[in-house]
Order: sequence, then C-alpha cells, then structure tokens
Amino acid sequence: MNLKQLEANFEALAADDPLWTVLSDNEKRDGMWDEAEFYRTGEGVIDDLESRLKGLGLDLAGHRAIDFGCGVGRLTFPLGRRFKSCCGIDISQSMVDFAESRANRGPNCQFLVNASPSLPAIDDASVDFVYSAIVFQHIAPRFTRQYLKSFAQKLKPGGLLVFQLPSHLNPQFPGNRKPFRILRKRFHYFTKAIAQRIPFVKSESFFEMNAIRRKVLLPFLEEECGLEVLDNQDFPAAGPAWVSYLYIARKR
Ligand SMILES: C[S@@+](CC[C@H](N)C(=O)[O-])C[C@H]1O[C@@H](n2cnc3c(N)ncnc32)[C@H](O)[C@@H]1O
Repeated sequence: MNLKQLEANFEALAADDPLWTVLSDNEKRDGMWDEAEFYRTGEGVIDDLESRLKGLGLDLAGHRAIDFGCGVGRLTFPLGRRFKSCCGIDISQSMVDFAESRANRGPNCQFLVNASPSLPAIDDASVDFVYSAIVFQHIAPRFTRQYLKSFAQKLKPGGLLVFQLPSHLNPQFPGNRKPFRILRKRFHYFTKAIAQRIPFVKSESFFEMNAIRRKVLLPFLEEECGLEVLDNQDFPAAGPAWVSYLYIARKR
C-alpha cells in the first residue's frame, strides 16, 4: 500500500472510531472504549518502556522527544511528562485533531500531521528521543526503511531511537500453520488495495500488516542509518500471530 492509500485508510478509520483504530480490541469496537481506561493503557506502556531503558542504564528524559504515529496521543502525553517537549506525529489529520482536543491530558505536547518519510518539519540533529509503537507494522517496508533513516538523521549524536516492528509470522500460532500463509496474506492485501482504487466499488478501510526480518533490520540500522543497536527485546505488540521486537538504538 502506498502512503496516499495508507493515509486514506487511517483517515477513514480514525474519523469513524479513533480509539478502536489505535487499540483494536473486538469488544471495544463502535465507540466502546472508556476514554480514561484507554489513556491509562498508554501510561502502562511508557512505564514499561522506562523500566526497559533503566535495565540498560538509560534514562527516559531529555529535551526533545518524538512519538511517531501518535494517534490520539495515548503515548505522547506520558512522554510529555518526561521530556521538556514531545511532538506527536501522525499521517491522519483526524487523529491529530482528536489528540489536540485532549491537550489537558499531558503537558509539553505538540502534534504535527506529516505524510512524508523525509520529515521536513524536523531539523537534523535536533531530537533526543524517538519512540514508535504499533505503527511501522502498518507501513510497507520500503517506506519504513526511509522513515528509519530520516529519524536517525533527526537525532542528536547519542540520541535514542526506540521502535517496535514485527519480524515474521509466529510459527507456533495455530492460524499460521497453513501452507503459503504469508503469500496468502500479501495476496489478500493486494486485492483489497486494488479494489480501493476502482471507482464505485464499495471497499472497506483496513489495516495492512507488515514485517521486516530482524536479521535484515539489524545490519540496516547499523550500516545504513549510523545507529548502534543496544538491544532488541521481545515485544508482542502485534498480537500472538507475529514475532515482534522492540529495537533500542543510539545515534553514533
Ligand atoms: C495503531 S495506531 C497506534 C497509535 C499510537 N502509537 C499508540 O500506540 O497509541 C497507528 C497510528 O499510526 C499512524 N500512522 C500510520 N502510518 C503512518 C505514517 N506513515 N506516518 C505517520 N503516522 C502513521 C496512524 O494514523 C495511527 O494513528
């Protein structure tokens, strides 16, 4: 899916049910998320991130942070409490509008709509910390590589890039035992994306799932992004069907 289609899909999903678009629990569909409970899940994610970093001797603090694919600000607001400023960036205007309307949920936050992998509104070497969770899994790998390179450029030397990305389908997951599972998935997304381009054909918005193998990603981060990978840890944010990692990398 190209970035224009990705934007259209997230825009339609966000305009309809923004909280469920961020955390797609079946029981919470159609506006069933309790908003306070929803935002509390974000506090838990950032507390967990803080203790993972502490385990590596790193602090979750500094001047300028970015929460990439911020959605409604679930993770941006708790990050804003730890940094002097935190900028939530999202491809969807509706998501950013929603986040801005909840500005009282946390200090030090700004929001930005951006659809370009070069992130033109952010200066090079100006950011201390970039975080992204449950975002790159929806972006085609060719664009994810561009975003990762750009974020590496935006970091100050010594700054951290921490993000989650699936590596591959989990072979232990019962639904993944069918032959050619990944090819079938690709074909499924391909036909849905084609259907969306045909005028007058009624097609629903959908999430595309993507992965980059850990063994391919690690040398990419080190050799092409100028990052030192400090750790990669299990992080099952893409659900049980995927093997997914949290990558913790530092700008050289
Ligand atoms: C599942 S939500 C996760 C939101 C947030 N990270 C969280 O965990 O609360 C994915 C978000 O990524 C955004 N997104 C998807 N592709 C993007 C891109 N190329 N650039 C910026 N945001 C993107 C979507 O609009 C959506 O808000």
